[in-house]
Amino acid sequence: MVRYARRSPGGLGNGTPWRHNGHDTGALRVTGLFAGIGGLELGLHRAGHKTQLLCEIDPLARRVLERRFPEVDLHDDVRNLHSLPRGTDLLVAGFPCQDLSQAGTTRGIRGSRSGLISEVFRLAETSDPRWLLLENVPFMLSLDRGQAMRFLTSRLRASGYNWAYRVVDTRAFGLPHRRRRVIILASRSDDPRDVLLSEDAGPGDNASSTLPTAFGFYWTEGNRGLGWAVDAVPTLKGGSGIGIPSPPAIWMRDGSIVTPDIRDAERLQGFPTDWTRPYLRVAGASRGGRWKLVGNAVSVPVAKWVGQRLLSPIAYNGTADEAAKGHKWPTAAWDMGSGIFRSDASEWPKRFKWHPLGSFLKHDATPLSHRAASGFFRRVSASRLSLADGFLDAIAAHVSQSTPED
Ligand SMILES: C[S@@+](CC[C@H](N)C(=O)[O-])C[C@H]1O[C@@H](n2cnc3c(N)ncnc32)[C@H](O)[C@@H]1O
Repeated sequence: MVRYARRSPGGLGNGTPWRHNGHDTGALRVTGLFAGIGGLELGLHRAGHKTQLLCEIDPLARRVLERRFPEVDLHDDVRNLHSLPRGTDLLVAGFPCQDLSQAGTTRGIRGSRSGLISEVFRLAETSDPRWLLLENVPFMLSLDRGQAMRFLTSRLRASGYNWAYRVVDTRAFGLPHRRRRVIILASRSDDPRDVLLSEDAGPGDNASSTLPTAFGFYWTEGNRGLGWAVDAVPTLKGGSGIGIPSPPAIWMRDGSIVTPDIRDAERLQGFPTDWTRPYLRVAGASRGGRWKLVGNAVSVPVAKWVGQRLLSPIAYNGTADEAAKGHKWPTAAWDMGSGIFRSDASEWPKRFKWHPLGSFLKHDATPLSHRAASGFFRRVSASRLSLADGFLDAIAAHVSQSTPED
C-alpha cells in the first residue's frame, strides 16, 4: 500500500500537504506543463486536487486556460520556466511524443538530452515533486522500435523513480469515444502501481449485446483504414490525414452521415459544453483550431480517476507479474527498482454506464459535406478495406442526395 505519511522538511518532497479549512485533505498541489486546454488539470480538480501553475505555449489554448482557471498562474514556454511553484506535489506533463523520439535518438549520438521531455526532468530535479504524471499516445510504445520508451523509462530509473504505466481507454468511463492513452506515473517515495494498476474492470468493449446506435469513422481516411468505431467516435485528433484538424463522421442508424458539433466533441472528452468557447474571441480563430484543442486534450474522467486513486490508492499485487522480455512494450508495466515487469491490468480500469453514441449527441450535427463524402467514397471504393454491411451504400446515397458545394 502507498505510504502517505507526511514527509519531514528536508526529506523527499517539498512542503506541507494542501490544506482545506486547516485540515489535511490529502489533496495534491499540481503544476501542469503542456497544459493545452487543461483536460488533465480539470480532471484532477474534480478529484479534489489543486493546480498552482499551468504552462502552455499556444496563445489560443492559453486563452481557454485564462478563462477556465482564472485563479491559476499561467506561464508560456516550459523552456524558460526556471522552477516549479514551491510545494508542488504532482508534476503533470502530456508532452509531444515526437520529442521523445528526438530525445531518444540524439541521446546515443551526441549525448544530447535536448528536447521538451528533458525540460520535464530538469524541473522535476530542481523541485522534487512527490509524483510525476506523464501522458502520451500509445504510439510511443512502438516509437523507434521501442527505443523512445526505453529512453524514457531508463531516464526515470536513473533519477531514482519507481514507475508504472498503463494504456487506458476513455470508453471505460462511459463516454462513446475510443481513445487510448498511455498514462505513466512515477515517484521516488510512493508506489505508483497502487494508483495505476490495481483497479481493473477487465478487458472491455462497448459492443454490448444491444444493437449499435451509430458508427464513427474518419472521412479524411479511407485508403488504409477508417478509424472505425462501433457506437463511439474514433479518437478525436489534433490533426488529420489531410493536414487540418477535422471532426470525425458518424453513420447514424437512420442512414444519415453527419459530423458532430464541437460542443459534443467537448462532451466526448468529458469537458463541460463550450469549454473552448473563449478561444473564439482570439483574433484569427478558425473552426479547425477549436477541434485541434479538443483533439489534443486528455479526457477529463481519465484524469479524474487517476486523481481519485492518488487520494485513495489500492494495494497492487504484482507477485504473479512476469519480467518484461523482448523489444515490445506491453500495454501495462512497472519497475520498482528490480527490473521491468509486465502487468495484466486491462485498458478498462472501470466500467461506467455506457452512453450509446446515437443518444449521447445533444447538439445538431451537420451533414457531411458533398465534397468530403465524395472524396471519401472514391478512396474507400478503391481500397481493399473490408466494410460493414450497408456502409458503402449509405455513403453513395449520401453523395447522391447532398448538394455539391460551389
Ligand atoms: C498533447 S497537448 C497537451 C494537452 C493537455 N494535456 C490537455 O489535456 O489539454 C501538448 C501541448 O504542449 C504544448 N507545448 C508544446 N511546446 C511547448 C513548450 N515549449 N512550452 C509549453 N507548452 C508547449 C502544445 O501547445 C500543446 O498544447
